[in-house]
Amino acid sequence: FGYINYFVEKDRKYIIDTLVNGLSRLEYRGYDSAGLAVDGDKKNEVLAFKEVGKVAKLKALIEEEKPDLTKVFDNHAGIAHTRWATHGPPSRVNCHPHRSDPKWQFAVVHNGIITNYKELKAFLETKGFRFETETDTEAIAKLAKYIYDEHSSIDFTTLVKAVIKELQGAFGLLMKSVHFPGEVVAARKGSPLVIGVRTAKKMKVDFVDVEFAEDGAALPAERASQNVALKKQSGLSAGLGAGLLAPPDKSLLHRSQSRAFLSDDGLPQAAEFFLSSDPSAIIEHTKKVLYLEDDDIAHIHEGQLNIHRVGKTDGISNVRAIQTLEIELQEIMKGRFDHFMQKEIFEQPESVINAMRGRLNAKEKTVTLGGLRQYITTIRRCRRLIFIACGTSFHSCMAVRGAFEELTELPISVELASDFLDRQAPVFRDDTCVFVSQSGETADSLMALRYCLERGALTVGFVNVVGSSISLMTHCGVHINAGPEIGVASTKAYTSQFVCMIMFALSLSEDRASKTQRRLEIMDGLAKVSDQFKEILKLDQSIKELCLKFKDQKSLLLLGRGAQHATALEGEFTFSTNDTFFLVNMNILGALKIKEISYLHCEAVMSGELKHGVLALVDENLPIVMILTRDDIFAKSLNAYQQVIARSGRPIVICNTGDKEFPGEKTDKIEVPHTVDILQGLLNVIPLQLMAYWLAVAEGLNVDFPRNLAKSVTVE
Ligand code: G6P
Repeated sequence: FGYINYFVEKDRKYIIDTLVNGLSRLEYRGYDSAGLAVDGDKKNEVLAFKEVGKVAKLKALIEEEKPDLTKVFDNHAGIAHTRWATHGPPSRVNCHPHRSDPKWQFAVVHNGIITNYKELKAFLETKGFRFETETDTEAIAKLAKYIYDEHSSIDFTTLVKAVIKELQGAFGLLMKSVHFPGEVVAARKGSPLVIGVRTAKKMKVDFVDVEFAEDGAALPAERASQNVALKKQSGLSAGLGAGLLAPPDKSLLHRSQSRAFLSDDGLPQAAEFFLSSDPSAIIEHTKKVLYLEDDDIAHIHEGQLNIHRVGKTDGISNVRAIQTLEIELQEIMKGRFDHFMQKEIFEQPESVINAMRGRLNAKEKTVTLGGLRQYITTIRRCRRLIFIACGTSFHSCMAVRGAFEELTELPISVELASDFLDRQAPVFRDDTCVFVSQSGETADSLMALRYCLERGALTVGFVNVVGSSISLMTHCGVHINAGPEIGVASTKAYTSQFVCMIMFALSLSEDRASKTQRRLEIMDGLAKVSDQFKEILKLDQSIKELCLKFKDQKSLLLLGRGAQHATALEGEFTFSTNDTFFLVNMNILGALKIKEISYLHCEAVMSGELKHGVLALVDENLPIVMILTRDDIFAKSLNAYQQVIARSGRPIVICNTGDKEFPGEKTDKIEVPHTVDILQGLLNVIPLQLMAYWLAVAEGLNVDFPRNLAKSVTVE
């Protein structure tokens, strides 16, 4: 998160509060440590604060250190970061911002991974730099200083261009420097960055950017002359060894840029800029935002925002439209709930309606997905549909696979993005690859998307976050409109993905007369889902009491069959926020030993497979949740129930309201309304979400921020 004010007087208290507040909004993306850098009391001085743990601890540290909060700045750039450790454990020193040297000449915050940081580090060490952290990010700050020292007349944008030209991997970064006070450069490749703008005066903010065609012509005179001088030099790498830092090509210079915030008379205007990995940290300040695209560099200086492209422009315009955010502040606040996860569970009656709004016409029995309209015929004719996702999004794909097979009669495969890439699975031009992601930024899914694009497949996105990488990079797609999801355990995004994908299957089958009756039945079912969610949510307190019964258990089994296996998988996944995520999922992949070190081991089992091994675990103590709602394979699912009862097991059954099959004395029951089989999983998952929630609360665990996890995993 970054904040820059120009021509607007702000004291240090305001600046620090804004940064800290921005971080707490972004905390769900990573929360093992947090830090920020602001200007010091003297010229060329930087104040940095870093603390291990959540943002609240950083706040406490700042209070303890008592910086002078009254000092006023009319032009100031501050940067801040909350971390999810990849390189180096959470510690003060590994926490961002990172610095080029003890005087903080260059300070950087960075998301993503620099894959060649070891080479950069080795090179910079030969130049006398001493690295103090275990992070990849530190190399960026030090490289900036190295280039600056070699070319002190360089301007900030050109410098950052030269830096990122040497970086491999993914980044969304902000850099500030004592050499460029009041300026920030932001760069993006693979990790999201959005810039919010607030102007002090009420000025016309339609942000039609001015495009600057060539070189320094449109730059302020003094900067332009520096660039010309730079161009005449033999190259930035003059005198450098190790093959690093190749000579600058034209792309390092300001060949082309777009500019926002020119007043009528061309003079800079008072303005504030908020830079963030996602809009949730911006919304309370302004709704006017622009999203950077990969290879964009944004330079903010004197109230102006200039956007440059790095490398070949490939015909991509550098004019970024200003958009108006449609989310409201209360959507990212907990409101009357204790946790975001709880709030998001309870939002589902509304979020599924939002997913269907303007798309499903229950009266006229039509489905219209505007984002796919142009492509739907092509998709109908494709060789196969491949669904690619990670985590919960993968489970929602699993949950709708049967529906797609039935309605489209196309071959369907569902792939975990990482495994798909590991196998380098064959993809063809006539395949349709569907990318499902809440955040739209998950690195594995993004890499798989690039892979499919390179092979010429048609790509479709089902994404929650508007403006996210997956939504920008796919040919077409559907926003699931679940609203911001903050709790790390995905709940409402799962049900909205489910609903949107079912609508997709309905659209694809529109031309099949043989499916008409079935389609009508499903549309009727969809129209009732929201009310049925409300019914199920009334079970909240009884589920809470039920959870107390197996609070101290070390293990939990979840059984489902057919489409309900996916529900069980998702239940397991959500339960696994009780600290067992890796364990559970690796366990599925066969790493059984890992069970031994878990706290609450939870495993989803396909009911049909129970008798092939897992039955051995069943006794009168092991809690077993069985999904036994009525469908075509109910009779078979019942066999698993009998097998458990015969071994003195005490199952908790999720069944349809009023089902007499399960005698009360032997079984705890959670009754859910009945719906068309294809949609039953949508309803069945709600009690599992509630159980996961109450179990975590009963254990005193951090529901919204489970250990070691992050909402948006932007590293492979
Ligand atoms: C992380 C989150 C999960 C999420 C997964 C995929 O692991 O902790 O909750 O399901 O990423 O995220 P996506 O944003 O692509 O749906």
